[in-house]
Amino acid sequence: MNYSYLSYIKLENTAEQPVYLQLRDAFRELIANGILQSDVKVPSSRVLSEYFGVHRQTVVSAMQELLSEGWLLSKDRKGLFVNNNLPEIKPRSYGKKIKVYPDTAAFSFHKTIHPTIGRKSFLFGFDDGYPDIRIAPCLAFSKAYSQILAENARRNTLAKVASGAGNLLLRDELAKMMRTYRGLSITSENLLLTHGSQMSIFLVASKLLKYGDNVVVTKPSYLTANNCFTSLGANLLTVGVDNSGMIIDEVETICRKKKVKCIYVTSHHHHPTTVTLSVERRMKLLQLAEQYSFAIIEDDYDYDYHYENKPLLPIASNDKHGNVVYVGSFSKILSHAFRLGYVIAPKNFIEEIATYRRLIDRQGDQILEEAVGILFRNNVVKNHVRKAVNIYRERRNAAYQLLNDELSDYLQCDLPEGGLAFWTHFDPAISLQRLSERCALKGLFFPDGRTYTYDKSKMNACRMGFASMNTKELTKAVEILKTEIGRN
Ligand SMILES: Cc1ncc(COP(=O)(O)O)c(C=O)c1O
Repeated sequence: MNYSYLSYIKLENTAEQPVYLQLRDAFRELIANGILQSDVKVPSSRVLSEYFGVHRQTVVSAMQELLSEGWLLSKDRKGLFVNNNLPEIKPRSYGKKIKVYPDTAAFSFHKTIHPTIGRKSFLFGFDDGYPDIRIAPCLAFSKAYSQILAENARRNTLAKVASGAGNLLLRDELAKMMRTYRGLSITSENLLLTHGSQMSIFLVASKLLKYGDNVVVTKPSYLTANNCFTSLGANLLTVGVDNSGMIIDEVETICRKKKVKCIYVTSHHHHPTTVTLSVERRMKLLQLAEQYSFAIIEDDYDYDYHYENKPLLPIASNDKHGNVVYVGSFSKILSHAFRLGYVIAPKNFIEEIATYRRLIDRQGDQILEEAVGILFRNNVVKNHVRKAVNIYRERRNAAYQLLNDELSDYLQCDLPEGGLAFWTHFDPAISLQRLSERCALKGLFFPDGRTYTYDKSKMNACRMGFASMNTKELTKAVEILKTEIGRN
């Protein structure tokens, strides 16, 4: 028999890909290119193992893959043959070929109320307060992924069907972390994993709100959360914010007049202004929640970043009666590219949202959740946060210095005690929208200040994230900003 085509196959023991997969791929290619034609008999595993000097099982594994993919057929006691009905199936066409895909749908659909303004992709800029993915523990991450995807581990982790609440390893690790560092006396049964805070807020709000329910938010606020509430038919009632955070007396005034279903609060660092809700107001809010039976959605989006004093524990850590639903995320710890967040709440509420989430997402991302669970178990997350806090403290200080040295005639901001952004007020003569457009032309992202309130009341302020840029980039960013402000 002529086996000369075997000379095309080069196997390398040192390559990253296992030898049996190299052999499988080589055979696939020979068949796909017509070098090995339909109905041709493939040499036996003994012949191939001798020819390539590899273990017979290596050949058997490669052949099994080719059989299961349909490239080869097994004929009783005759051996393996190239399939004459190859897996590269050409679908049968019907109707007239469509050259241009339709731009618009021919059916009616609901539009999202107040869509948030999309952002173009920029290499650097004053974002909303994102971390720097360049310092994320990506090597440890890829090791954890390899560990999970390694063949003999697959059955242990990946074959399991998770509950709607998500991966148990990560839930256990997170619960431990919450007990140790955030004063929350919880177990994994109080915890549900999601694809980020935004999904958490949506799930929670969907189960809390009915059409026409009142939700209290601040003004200004995190509009994407507000949009979520209004898209569910809720009615937004607003209260102010001062240096001690959300003004809780205004919440009380509302509660006296109207039935409030829930309150959305960014307690640790108010979004967008970055201020921390004071202890007195936290206690008052809890007391009102009990008195008027409303839920508090506490969105603690960047709890880990505090640079001066000890941070205040979450409001949820003082929740004796089960009024608080605590929402958190890994977007500010690692990057929003890793879609991972969580909800913490009384067990019966978690069970309900775990059931409900299955309508849109069966079980979350098991591999990502297991990988982050491994990072927790190996203290990678803890060490990363420690390192990141030091780096971002330096960047905060450098950015503050630069803004004050170069731009104090045009803007005013306080040094935030925590978080990843400055809340910055600009001279009313400066149009943030024009400035944003000009900076974009220079490759710098600069927010246009339109994403914090619905109305047109002019705050002329914006969040200026400092953490995703190193000192060199911050210097360059401030230089561009200064030039463009000068032209405003
Ligand atoms: C206040 C606040 N809440 C929630 C989110 C949503 O975060 P994610 O869905 O990425 O976890 C963000 C995003 O930046 C935020 O700033």
